[in-house]
Amino acid sequence: MSKHITLNDFILHHQQDFAIKPSDLVQLFSDITQAAKTVSIDIRRAGLVDNILGAQGETNIQGEEQQKLDVVADVAFIQAFKSGNQICGIASEENEDFLSFDHPTSLQGKYIALFDPLDGSSNIDVNVSIGTIFSIYERKSPVGTPATLEDMLQPGKDQLCAGYVLYGSSTMLVFTTGQGVNGFTLDPVSDEFCLSHPNMQMPVIGRLYAMNEGNINECEVGLTKYIKYCQSRENQTGKPYSGRYIGSLVADFHRNLIKGGIYIYPDVLTAPEGKLRLLYECNPLAFIAEQAGGLATTGRERILDLIPQKLHQRVPYYVGSKDMVEKAMSFLS
Ligand code: AHG
Ligand code: MN
Ligand code: MN
Repeated sequence: MSKHITLNDFILHHQQDFAIKPSDLVQLFSDITQAAKTVSIDIRRAGLVDNILGAQGETNIQGEEQQKLDVVADVAFIQAFKSGNQICGIASEENEDFLSFDHPTSLQGKYIALFDPLDGSSNIDVNVSIGTIFSIYERKSPVGTPATLEDMLQPGKDQLCAGYVLYGSSTMLVFTTGQGVNGFTLDPVSDEFCLSHPNMQMPVIGRLYAMNEGNINECEVGLTKYIKYCQSRENQTGKPYSGRYIGSLVADFHRNLIKGGIYIYPDVLTAPEGKLRLLYECNPLAFIAEQAGGLATTGRERILDLIPQKLHQRVPYYVGSKDMVEKAMSFLS
């Protein structure tokens, strides 16, 4: 028998720590892990089955080419949330509008979910880590009525729960409910998520920086100076940092969470508001970063304080080890 603490055991034994009722949380995580296991299996078999790899042939609302797995993951998470009865509506990176689940039992759901079903789409076909990022809020609209846009546009500081599933060399679930950050690894033998990374803390400073440096001539002068600082011996550690950029935010974030580092996706000429989405990417990872002792800002403002104006809003993003994010901000005018 496994000596590991399963996700269900963990939730039940730490129930006093959660803002969400433990029985609700168990059901929510049953939805999330069911979808995550389906997506994880699809990813691991991607080269072997038809209709998994490659482009879907459509663009999403962001104007980005959808991959088949983007759609597979989107459908898996929507179906899981719809059938779980805790969630009354969702918004996802892959859908133009939010969805209200109008089945009578879903209308009784107290929460909404926002998610990026598959982060790192450009890495799907080349067997590099990708992930799902999610966050859960209490609905604003009355229970029993359809979910509204107002339910979806809540500031990140009001998140009840945020997490990600990383489909890496192992599949991991990392989440917070506002009481620290814990990581669970999917045991392929028992098919259970088991506690492997209790109470994760992001080092206050690290030696890794992650940015698409192809954009270096497209961003503000202060940031180019900060990147030069990272590469110099004048930085806080006395020797050049290492550049690490996977191109899957969720994987870059996870590495920095464990090892310490900074991830930057600034506003650039080609993406004047930044590239990353406030609701589906920046807010959930900002909640996790802060809960692990890190920081997440636009370079100027705290991410979790932003009041979202629209579903697919993009923002510049500086996230990671506290001292590194603060140092980067000090370079911006
Ligand atoms: P998504 O696959 O959900 O569209 O997100 C991609 C994001 C993020 O994961 C990654 O860090 C970044 O886009 C990569 O963008 P560049 O190719 O412009 O560096
Ligand atoms: Mn993404
Ligand atoms: Mn995506």
